[in-house]
Amino acid sequence: MKTPAQLCALAPVIPVIIVNDVAQAAPLAKALVAGGLPVLEVTLRTPVALEAIAEMKAACPDAVVGAGTLRNAADVKACMDAGCAFGVSPGAPAALMDAVAEAGMPFLPGCATATEAMALADRGFEVVKFFPAGAAGGPNLLKSLASPLPDVKFCPTGGVSLENAPEYLKLPNVCVVGGSWVIPNDALETGDWARIEALARAAVTALRPLQK
Ligand code: 3PG
Repeated sequence: MKTPAQLCALAPVIPVIIVNDVAQAAPLAKALVAGGLPVLEVTLRTPVALEAIAEMKAACPDAVVGAGTLRNAADVKACMDAGCAFGVSPGAPAALMDAVAEAGMPFLPGCATATEAMALADRGFEVVKFFPAGAAGGPNLLKSLASPLPDVKFCPTGGVSLENAPEYLKLPNVCVVGGSWVIPNDALETGDWARIEALARAAVTALRPLQK
């Protein structure tokens, strides 16, 4: 099992995925991996999310498939049972963090302030999600945290795009970004896998050189 730091080093972007139709899972994963993005976060926001994760794992042995939007201990158990490689959450409630620790799940908990980042560092998290990145202060906020909290690395997510991702990735405390821009809704709905693969490839080409 890879650690969060190892996962975050595999590609400059973790696509945030919302699957409504399980038939989309395999071709979507194949397109993203072919474009150079092997670390996939499938959010638990639809009833088919865990089934989609199983489909992606089966279709793409090279993909590292995890789950996002974990909110409680039941989500942690369901994701561990489904063989998720990692978990992500927009926040870090104590009960969720306790369940993650007990399960030994590689995890990116969410935070938006210095206090939250410090609490997660004290719990041993080496990489945390900064959410909602754009609304919470964007690159300026993370830049301000780099000096007092140099040991905390961030995955900004929420409002990140190909255009603003470089501002984040150039910071010393940003190791990867998360975002849904590589999976536009219309491309997903029409099964335009070539477009999704091209968006993934464009992200890798532009952003990989900026990744530490
Ligand atoms: C999310 O969890 O929804 C992510 O933050 C995705 O945000 P984005 O759609 O702005 O990339």
